[in-house]
Parts: sequence; structure tokens; C-alpha cells
Amino acid sequence: MTTHARIIGVGSYLPERILTNTDLEAMVDTSDEWIVTRTGIRERRVVAEGEATSHLSVRAAERALADAGIAASEIDLVVLGTSSPDMIFPATACLVQEKLGMTCPAYDVNAACSGFVFALHAGVAAIESGRATRVLVIGADALTRHIDFTDRATCVLFGDGAGAVVLEAGGEPGVLGIVLGSDGSGAGLLRIPAGGSARPVVPEGVGDASRYVQMNGNEVFRFAVKAIPAATLEALAASGHTVDDLAWLVPHQANQRILNTVEQRLGIPSERVFSHVATTGNTSAASIPLALDDLYTSGRIASGDLIALVGFGAGLTWGAAVVRWTKPRPTEEN
Ligand code: ACO
Repeated sequence: MTTHARIIGVGSYLPERILTNTDLEAMVDTSDEWIVTRTGIRERRVVAEGEATSHLSVRAAERALADAGIAASEIDLVVLGTSSPDMIFPATACLVQEKLGMTCPAYDVNAACSGFVFALHAGVAAIESGRATRVLVIGADALTRHIDFTDRATCVLFGDGAGAVVLEAGGEPGVLGIVLGSDGSGAGLLRIPAGGSARPVVPEGVGDASRYVQMNGNEVFRFAVKAIPAATLEALAASGHTVDDLAWLVPHQANQRILNTVEQRLGIPSERVFSHVATTGNTSAASIPLALDDLYTSGRIASGDLIALVGFGAGLTWGAAVVRWTKPRPTEEN
């Protein structure tokens, strides 16, 4: 019998501090009107002093485990997608594993804003190959730590957060089709040039712009509006479905204008394209599981619904997963 991976738990966490567009107006030469018109974002969450990606991840993971109704000790693999780890090493997944009292293998995946879909792919592969039975997949980022808050082109876009799912092996298909892509020729379009082995941060370079997120916004926009529809269609074809079968498209939450363009290109009604970018901003690898948890906890997905989770980001990278939702609405469980 073929072994499949199914999502049995979902959880997420947003840090408490809210940074509004009005707050940003006091920091850089921008306006609420510009930010809302160009991006749809009204506010985003920012990590507190002393709070890092692992802390956000642990909160999201605890909620996903509680939702799945299993103990941390029942997990046999942790895969964490992030591009803002607590440290270069150890992996943030190991910090999370220790904080949750687990002993299983744990590692990070870096695919920037596609990080959750890449981590999900690893978790699904481990289950389908019989190497794992229950996998905790986390997407988490604290990219505001890597933003230059004097650069209006980037500081209005990003926020922090974490989301997680628990995958379980079974005979019933949950994740039906999953595709990934990478194109390193676009590496220069979106990057943090310094802080790695190519350009270590040295004391005299502390104020250097190269240690912050740098982006060619127009080119990334053009890439996103091609990559999201293409990846969605590829994953749908891999699972024998079409756009009409989707109850929800759950895209990476980067910019409302990107989502509007994607809707037109895929011919899918906006009522079926999830967006809460107005209140989260771009939370990078956290964005898709945060969106999924919002859909789930607000009772907007039902058992049997077909959903597509679609990410894109630095690398360049992209990925899509078509999932048959098998959990009842939270209210139906009580
Ligand atoms: N407030 C006011 N004005 C601004 C701001 C701001 N925050 N930022 C830029 N501007 C100005 C520019 O300086 C420019 O002025 P000029 O015409 O005098 O030169 C003008 O606004 C237009 O700038 P554009 O960059 O052309 O604006 P655009 O409409 O393309 O929007 C944006 C920029 C929002 C960044 C858009 O290109 C975008 O969303 N790109 C995709 C970004 C994205 O999704 N990134 C995440 C990828 S995922 C990952 O892996 C991290």
C-alpha cells in the first residue's frame, strides 16, 4: 500500500508588537496611502527585544501539536524553513527541538519565502519513503532583524511570524502533488549580501547596507506573477486537478497587487484567493502556514476541500503543493 502524508495539525504565532504604516511614516519618507496602494499592507508584527525565530517557531509548533492532539515526543523529524535563523549554526530546528523536549533529527531549509513549501516537500518525502511517521514542518522568519529601517523600498514590506503543520503517514492521500523550482541566475534580485562566508560582517562594516535585505522590487514582482500561476498549474496537473477544483489558493503573502495579478492570470475568483497581507506584511517562510492557520481557525476550510499552497522567493525559488484537507472545521470537533 502506498504511504501518503496528511496534515493532522496546524498552528501559528505572530509576535505582539504591531508596526503600522503610520509608525513607518514617522521613520522614513513614506505614506500610508503609498504603502496601501502599492502593497495592500496596513500593519505588520515585529519581534521583541530578545525574541528570535526559534521563539516564534516554538509557539507555532506547540499550537500545531496541540491541534494534532499528539505529544512532541511522537514526532520523528523536524524540518524548519527559514532564512533568518537565530544563528548561522546550530540550525534553528535544533533549538526548537531542544525547547520542545524532542530527541528526533531536526534541520533547517533555506529557500527564503518559499521555505515552507520546500520544508513541506522534505517532510512529505520522508513520510512517503517510509523514513518518518510524523513530521513537524515549520516556516518561520524574523526578517525585520535584517531590514534597514531607513530604506523605504524594503522596510514597509516585511513582518515577522511563524507557522507549523504536523504531517502524519497514512493510507489516505493528503498532500497530493508538490513541485519545487529554483533559478540561481536570479540570485542577485533579492539577497542579504553580507553576513555569510562571502562577506563576513566585520566591525567597520556594521553600518554597511550590504548586511540588509536588498531587492529589485520590479523584477521580483515580474517573477512572482509568472512563478505563482506556473507552479500552481504544475502542481494541479501533477495531482490530476484544475483551477476549478480549488476551494482555496493560498499564496505567499507578499503584496496584494501580486495576488490580484495572479487571480487574473489563473482565472480564479478573488473570493477563493486567500489574503491577510494587510495585517501581516510579508512574513517570508511563515506566510503560507500563517495563512493556512487563519483559514482553518476561522472555519473557512472544510474536510474534503482542495487547496493549493504556493510560494516564491529569493534564490530564486518557487514551489506549490496541492492538498486535500482532511480535518473538520474547529467548531465541528467540539
Ligand atoms: N514610500 C513612498 N515611495 C516609495 C516607497 C515607499 N515606501 N518605496 C519606493 N517608493 C518610490 C520609489 O522611490 C519610486 O519613486 P520615483 O518614481 O520617484 O523613482 C516610486 O515609489 C515607484 O517605485 P517602484 O519601485 O517602481 O514601485 P512599485 O510600484 O514597483 O512598488 C514594490 C514597489 C512594492 C516593492 C513592488 O515592486 C513589489 O511588491 N515587488 C515585489 C516585492 C516582493 O514580493 N518581495 C518579496 C519576495 S519574497 C522573499 O523571498 C523575501
